[in-house]
Amino acid sequence: MSFPESFVWGAATAAFQIEGATKADGRGESIWDRFCSTPGKVANGDSGDPACDHYRRWPADLELMSDLGLQGYRFSISWPRIQPDGRGPANPKGIDFYRRLVEGLLERQITPLATLYHWDLPQGLQESGGWASREVVDRFAEYAGLMFDGLGDLVDNWITHNEPWVTAFLGYGSGVKAPGVRDWRAALAAGHHALLSHGRAVEAFRAGHQGRIGITLDLTHVTGEPEAARRLDGHRNRWFLDPVLRGGYPADLVDHYEDRFGPLDFVHNGDLEEIAAPVDFLGVNFYQPAEVKLNGDNGLLGVEEVPFEGQRTAMGWSVEPGSLTDLLVRLKRDYGDVPLVITENGASFDDPPLDGHEVIEDPERTAYLRDHVAAVERALEAGVDVRGYYVWSLFDNFEWEHGYASRFGIVAVDFESQRRIPKRSALWYRELIAQQGNGR
Ligand code: FCB
Repeated sequence: MSFPESFVWGAATAAFQIEGATKADGRGESIWDRFCSTPGKVANGDSGDPACDHYRRWPADLELMSDLGLQGYRFSISWPRIQPDGRGPANPKGIDFYRRLVEGLLERQITPLATLYHWDLPQGLQESGGWASREVVDRFAEYAGLMFDGLGDLVDNWITHNEPWVTAFLGYGSGVKAPGVRDWRAALAAGHHALLSHGRAVEAFRAGHQGRIGITLDLTHVTGEPEAARRLDGHRNRWFLDPVLRGGYPADLVDHYEDRFGPLDFVHNGDLEEIAAPVDFLGVNFYQPAEVKLNGDNGLLGVEEVPFEGQRTAMGWSVEPGSLTDLLVRLKRDYGDVPLVITENGASFDDPPLDGHEVIEDPERTAYLRDHVAAVERALEAGVDVRGYYVWSLFDNFEWEHGYASRFGIVAVDFESQRRIPKRSALWYRELIAQQGNGR
């Protein structure tokens, strides 16, 4: 295989999905706690407890990461553990938890990659509008500063936001994710404020810290009727790529949204310059491609997906590894040589019952990962600068509105006993890292 020696093989998680202990040590309520306790929002009435109880079991979890030979670990910081209400001084117990975790990673030669925001906004900030209100930008910059001061001596690699498209459009538009608001104009404002807060955090980082900082976008490869594909690509990809990497929103989509929702007057003078603060890398989360056609003038975009004929995951997501190569090649073509990191890639499949097994057989997940790693390799061969790959996810965990039933882990978790059981995919990954990693 043609991966460079410096390529980082890792796995990813997010705070709310694995930590549990939602009331421990002064942690405040997040919008996901509130969403989970609102009837009908999350499958099976599941919540952030117990999740993987990682808040208490992290030392054993570090051993497991070490056994797998992981070179990198991407985790997220729970904002309400740091600022229970979203404002004011840092809760020392919150900072301590992440310091111990990161020290444990470093002792095991696992490079930490810390995400500041993976969707668990303090509920206190939602009370004043959350991401739809401009005040959140200052609050996020303040929180980012607390974390750079609190962990900056240990952590060199930072991600500001995970998937602002989801924060904005699923949180404030369709409302299928927390905080469950249904208002497309609010969604557009939320997306803008998330991007602006990203730019502010990058600025704050440059002002006094060493290391690398970027943002993670959930991107997709779009095909289909040209007009439909242009719209979906604009909505899903360019709406976030263009401001971060080119300093402006795509004009075709600005026209489209302004026609429907009025002037985008939440964009103030100077915002676009701040959002375009240079990043050291772009995080790419990739799961599936999309093929679309026009469906009249209905809905946000007036497009609909063409049903996929090939293999699908347990969540119905299309499996088409070649589209990851296409996406990466396109990023280089259209956005130049910004280093790329695959910060999430993986699949949910229904695993067999866990009882008594030493290893859980998951042939479909293993094949998905193998074929997507090969797709990354083809992009490298085509000259794309990809620096690392992080499997989503290290553990079966709380999969947002789907609760605990959707399983993405390469390590199974029995949520009652909290036993961790490797799946075949984890053993395959360990082997890959051992061969590729040159014993690093
Ligand atoms: C991504 C999220 C991650 C997980 C995967 C399946 O959109 O970033 O937390 O839910 O999807």
